[in-house]
Amino acid sequence: MKTENTTATPELQLPRDCTFLPEDWHVLAQYWYPIAQASEVADKPVGVKLLDVKLVCYRSNGKVVVARDLCFHRGAPLSKGWVENGEIVCPYHGFRYNCEGACTAVPAHPDAKISPKLKLIVYPAVERYGLIWTSLAATEENIPALPGWDDPDYVNVLVPSFDIAGSAGRQMEGFLDVSHFAHVHTKSFADPNNAYVPQYKVKREGNELLAEYWSTVSNYAVGSANKAPEGFQWLREFRVFPPFAARLTVHFPDDGKLMILNCASPVSARYTRLFCPITRNFDKHVPEEDTIKFNLQIFREDADMVEAQTPEDLPLDLQAEAHIPADRTSIAYRQLLTDLGLGRSYTS
Ligand code: FES
Repeated sequence: MKTENTTATPELQLPRDCTFLPEDWHVLAQYWYPIAQASEVADKPVGVKLLDVKLVCYRSNGKVVVARDLCFHRGAPLSKGWVENGEIVCPYHGFRYNCEGACTAVPAHPDAKISPKLKLIVYPAVERYGLIWTSLAATEENIPALPGWDDPDYVNVLVPSFDIAGSAGRQMEGFLDVSHFAHVHTKSFADPNNAYVPQYKVKREGNELLAEYWSTVSNYAVGSANKAPEGFQWLREFRVFPPFAARLTVHFPDDGKLMILNCASPVSARYTRLFCPITRNFDKHVPEEDTIKFNLQIFREDADMVEAQTPEDLPLDLQAEAHIPADRTSIAYRQLLTDLGLGRSYTS
């Protein structure tokens, strides 16, 4: 685990062409989100977007830097530039910036004093679970916990990021939904003849939600040689880290544990980049590609629904959609988002 630049001053200015209502954007900006896979970020700058803010991400002598993808000289994107001696170079007029964002060179006037106002906006950056995390305005780190990731008894898999043309709220609610398995996931793990959802409990712990769901729905892949003992009760524990992350722990036979961290990173109000680190303490011999293939299949099955839902935004008004007892977690999730101060952009 590597922590870097966590003391940078965040910026609170609303982005141009913001797709969120201003009130929601300011609330969402207080949280941390993954923006890229760590393995994809090297010396070459990478352009990404979070909450409608264009960001550039690169390494300066191995240290991750996340900054606004904007040179204040003439507005060129630094993601089209390059890194030299640990400094990012703007592709338009060659200004150079160090990893604190200060301009260190203006090639057109090499002997002139550089104004301290000529600075990039730099955001905090943390590398964790194989991902680069940042926040636009958080005052402290609030990255969700994934206990197995640093445990030598567990094997880790990072599924490639997956883009969804839908809102982070709808994606998250789909991840928490236990009554769609028998309808949406019949080609990956679920049984179309096992649609029944037994009663289950949801509780609130501070700003987190915890749901414990027991059922006979197997988590083994369709066609797998693995079989749970007759009548085995599968426990799925969901822990929600608001606004858009949740950890699912699936308890397998023989004390097997699979943990999936679903992180829906809000690129814009209706576009989401899903990051998903997975860790498990069994099946250590299973090739990483098999786990990735299986999970991408599930993502595609879910995205097919999430991208087609109306309204696109998650309605937080509990009267806006009909609910059934199986929706207990999603009802609590909608209430949680309302309590965070969100809602106005989700009710249209
Ligand atoms: Fe970046 Fe001119 S726009 S140096």
